[in-house]
Amino acid sequence: TTTQRIALIPGDGIGREVVPAALAVLDTVGRRHGIAFGYDEFDWSCARYLAEGAMMPADGLDRIRDHDAIFLGAVGAPGVPDHVSLWGLLIPIRRQFQQYVNLRPIRVFDGLDSPVRGAVAGEVDFVVVRENVEGEYSEIGGRMSRGFPDELAVQQAVFTRAGVTRLVDFGLDLAEGRRRYGEAEPSTRSEPAGAFTPSEHGGTATTRRGGYVTSATKSNGIVHTMPFWDEIVAERTALHPALRWDQEHIDALSAKLVLDPARFDVIVASNLFGDILSDLAAAVAGGIGIAPAANLNPARDFPSMFEPVHGSAPDIAGRGIANPIGAIWTAAMMLDHLGHPEAAAEVENAIAAVLAAREVRTPDLGGTATTTTFTQAVLDAVGTR
Ligand code: NAD
Ligand code: IPM
Ligand code: MN
Repeated sequence: TTTQRIALIPGDGIGREVVPAALAVLDTVGRRHGIAFGYDEFDWSCARYLAEGAMMPADGLDRIRDHDAIFLGAVGAPGVPDHVSLWGLLIPIRRQFQQYVNLRPIRVFDGLDSPVRGAVAGEVDFVVVRENVEGEYSEIGGRMSRGFPDELAVQQAVFTRAGVTRLVDFGLDLAEGRRRYGEAEPSTRSEPAGAFTPSEHGGTATTRRGGYVTSATKSNGIVHTMPFWDEIVAERTALHPALRWDQEHIDALSAKLVLDPARFDVIVASNLFGDILSDLAAAVAGGIGIAPAANLNPARDFPSMFEPVHGSAPDIAGRGIANPIGAIWTAAMMLDHLGHPEAAAEVENAIAAVLAAREVRTPDLGGTATTTTFTQAVLDAVGTR
């Protein structure tokens, strides 16, 4: 038996409801695969901030730096400004643990209807590779003259050659060897790179398995950072002649994500662009409650953090109706990262099986199931296909 030590941060709102769902699945699949989980739970949250004046203790990061992984629900609560909850917990973990890749896979499941006409199960299957420690999310900036006529706010974006290069390289390597989380082995390319036939948009669904990268940019305007991003993307993609790649302006890319989601394979994006694209992509796949995320430290010198894409959803918190798919799928990503790809595949297949049966689903997906009954259905399906 392998024991994995997990730092658990349920956080706020529905974070506290979906984390137990993910743990139940982890424990069940762990038993089947000889993996034991040891959880250290931390109450770091807005509730802690209101009681003790800080989201986490001063030595918080030291307390979790030796864990095998961090599993987080969500943070954010009414009454605590988001800049407090985020800069006090989430962002420091991502940055100081050098989790510079935020990996956000998207797929349309059989049985879960996409609001997008033509978004078909099995065809829409891509991943957003979001830069996670720099870019538009910087501390540099400020507000002045609050309440006066000359009031202003300034925000600096920070793009470094090293930071963009490592992110883009991760995306390119992923596109070369991409397998789906539902598969235990890397999938071989269904077509040689040369066999690609461009559609009118410059892409087709077949490119998805052919090694295809899309860079999200905005270099047609007066933004200084994005031409720099584009130069690095061009340099790095030149080192991968077998890959096809495009760059798309973020505005047009957003439209194409809705109009033709099947054409995408790996999308590399800056921090803010990747944030927006990942909620949009989640909606294309059926809803933001289903999307998973891995904040990866590829060098593995600090733990990676696993958290669903969605937030604490104060509007539905406490009612037991949060969709646990995002958190459960996130747990599968953690299993994969920890070296248990078969267990990871079993979890993702269990989610797929429950959805394909078209019976149990939470209210955000048009059903009446609670978080617990949905989770039970996933537990029942683990190992059945
Ligand atoms: P949100 O993701 O919390 O909610 C957006 C909408 O989606 C809401 O209507 C919500 O009910 C719904 N939703 C989200 N997840 C769902 C699920 N699992 N099941 C069913 N419905 C779901 O985003 P928001 O409203 O922008 O932010 C709310 C708070 O969460 C803010 O404080 C924000 O800063 C924080 N937040 C935290 C994280 C994080 O910790 N990683 C991520 C995003 C937002
Ligand atoms: C996410 C969230 C965070 C982000 C917020 C809460 C800071 O939206 O994880 O996608 O923008 O990174
Ligand atoms: Mn987001």
